Amino acid sequence: MPHLTVYREHDAVRPEVITGDPAVLAGHLAMAGILLERWTAEPVLPADADTAAVLSAYAAPIQRLQRVRGYQSVDVVRMPRGTPDAAALRAKFLDEHTHTEDEARFFVEGSGAFYLHMDGRVFRVVCEAGDLLSVPAGTRHWFDMGPEPHLTAIRFFTRPDGWVAESTGDPISARFPGYEGVVNA
Ligand SMILES: [Fe+2]
Repeated sequence: MPHLTVYREHDAVRPEVITGDPAVLAGHLAMAGILLERWTAEPVLPADADTAAVLSAYAAPIQRLQRVRGYQSVDVVRMPRGTPDAAALRAKFLDEHTHTEDEARFFVEGSGAFYLHMDGRVFRVVCEAGDLLSVPAGTRHWFDMGPEPHLTAIRFFTRPDGWVAESTGDPISARFPGYEGVVNA
């Protein structure tokens, strides 16, 4: 299940909201215009599943999402526990940035935390298998996969060039608590 922490942008110590309650969480995200849906993360993927195997296993929800939301293409990010260069991979997404299209991610394994910086607040959304999150185009955000990355996410795109990250140059992410991962996830 997803988990939400809401901070004022200038106070990374005392959150306004901490909740794992689906209804409360959904209310906060809906007010902020952030799409989060619960999908079913099945079947369990074999350890050696490659991109084609992941796309095939999730063909039905992928097709539905493409039809409903107009996504033109998909790909897969898979990071099994023990991935080499984990620290470098983690660092790559930690700086605040924006994209010109929505950043839609369907988590089918593991977890990670999105931080969305909007309306004077930081919404920290921990996503786990089954969660589909879409960061609206132009929204300042960063992503923390934690010190021991473990995730598989299907990424959806509406434009071939839309997912180029543009740094905001704001060091805000360094002030906020990182994601430490979920034990036994
Ligand atoms: Fe991003």
